[in-house]
Amino acid sequence: MKTLLRGGTVVTATDLYRGDVLIEDERITAIARPGDLTPFGDQTPFDKTIDASGKYVIPGGIDVHTHLDMPFGGTTSADDFESGTVAAAHGGTTSVVDFAIQYRGQTLAHALDTWRKKAEGKAAIDYGFHMIVTELTESVESEMDALVEEGVTSFKLFMAYPGVFMLDDGSIFRALLRTRENGGTICMHAENGGVIDVLVKKALAEGKIAPKYHALTRPARAEGEATHRAIALAEMAGVPIYIVHLSAAEALEMVMQARDRGLPAYAETCPQYLFLSSDNYEEPGFDGAKYVMSPPLRGKETQERLWRGLASNDLQAVSTDHCPFCMKEQKELGRDDFSRIPNGAPGIETRMSLVFDGGVRTGKIGLNRFVELTSTSPAKIFGLFPRKGTVAPGSDADLVVFDPKKKVTLSAKTLHMKVDYNPYEGREIIGAADTVLSRGKVVVESGKFVGRAGAGSFLKRNPR
Ligand code: URP
Ligand code: ZN
Ligand code: ZN
Repeated sequence: MKTLLRGGTVVTATDLYRGDVLIEDERITAIARPGDLTPFGDQTPFDKTIDASGKYVIPGGIDVHTHLDMPFGGTTSADDFESGTVAAAHGGTTSVVDFAIQYRGQTLAHALDTWRKKAEGKAAIDYGFHMIVTELTESVESEMDALVEEGVTSFKLFMAYPGVFMLDDGSIFRALLRTRENGGTICMHAENGGVIDVLVKKALAEGKIAPKYHALTRPARAEGEATHRAIALAEMAGVPIYIVHLSAAEALEMVMQARDRGLPAYAETCPQYLFLSSDNYEEPGFDGAKYVMSPPLRGKETQERLWRGLASNDLQAVSTDHCPFCMKEQKELGRDDFSRIPNGAPGIETRMSLVFDGGVRTGKIGLNRFVELTSTSPAKIFGLFPRKGTVAPGSDADLVVFDPKKKVTLSAKTLHMKVDYNPYEGREIIGAADTVLSRGKVVVESGKFVGRAGAGSFLKRNPR
């Protein structure tokens, strides 16, 4: 099967040029000057030609932070691997790295098996897994090595959610040391869980039950402190660290200081922290619950700090932390107690357009940086490059024909995530995916999903 993407402007993390892209089966096999790949006059040697003129040809988005079909807070995230990956594809994302969870008393192998079964036969695009470790016995420690061998080369640890996910500093340090041997990467949820727990209990005892108290009991300093501690533990272990869903200027400051000292500290932020703010918790009635996520939304002034961090490479990636819960029957669980509102929000489908519209169109970041933040850099950090994350001969033909002029009004009614609200409802954006290919096959065409649930493959990722 030969497909030609004709007449587009190829954009990678480093280049921008007019070029035709030839795909044979699942991979890119050639890129040439416009017209050079059609030497046989009218007789086209291609099975399919896609007109990309006036559009960008970019590597498929890579979202390295999703929670599909995840049991959490007494319910399960609303998108499973089918609806979530179909929505991702609509938005121009062609790979996700989701989180498998080791519950206490379980092996990592059991957790991976459980999550692979959730994805197999359902995922419409390629997927990998990080492993959430909630209990680090000696045998679990040695299992980490086996997981790295199997292509699960990153582990998420929590400094928050005591009694559920939180690990003590000693266990965190042991896990970090282990990655020094096995080449894995530790991803950290950096919030001081002990402090937050005290503040939550105090607020509830004072009758403060509304959604906004979720944010008021999770101070930015609790994120800054944990980020500092996580980086210090990694420094003592002599390994890199990746901070997930960084939201606070106080945390960014810690990452910047570490990087200035030459430490391999990396961090991602998410669109919700770039476009929404703590003002959203003031929406009428119970609507503030739409934004209950951890870490919480911060003051509006933080948005510019985060954009600057993205531009200056103090932040290396934009992922989504897609963890959708419907207002009805899910977020509602916390109507009388904010601490029972399931934490998380949808975003897998809107990431690429939001970052393009809010970042590139406003001049906060350039086009190359847009590609780097949404695809290349996550691919490099998480062992997928150069198979994924670029437009180059030999790479998987995970490609997006991105229309920089396409206008879209974001709405839960027209988006494909299975959730009954959208945090950006009514927001008009310019710039959206037009045609999306996953390993050479068109999966989205003219706004329609034409791929297949189950066509996605498990991504065996490389260690550092
Ligand atoms: O609120 C959030 N972020 N929910 C998903 C779980 C996590 O900590 O990433
Ligand atoms: Zn987290
Ligand atoms: Zn998350």
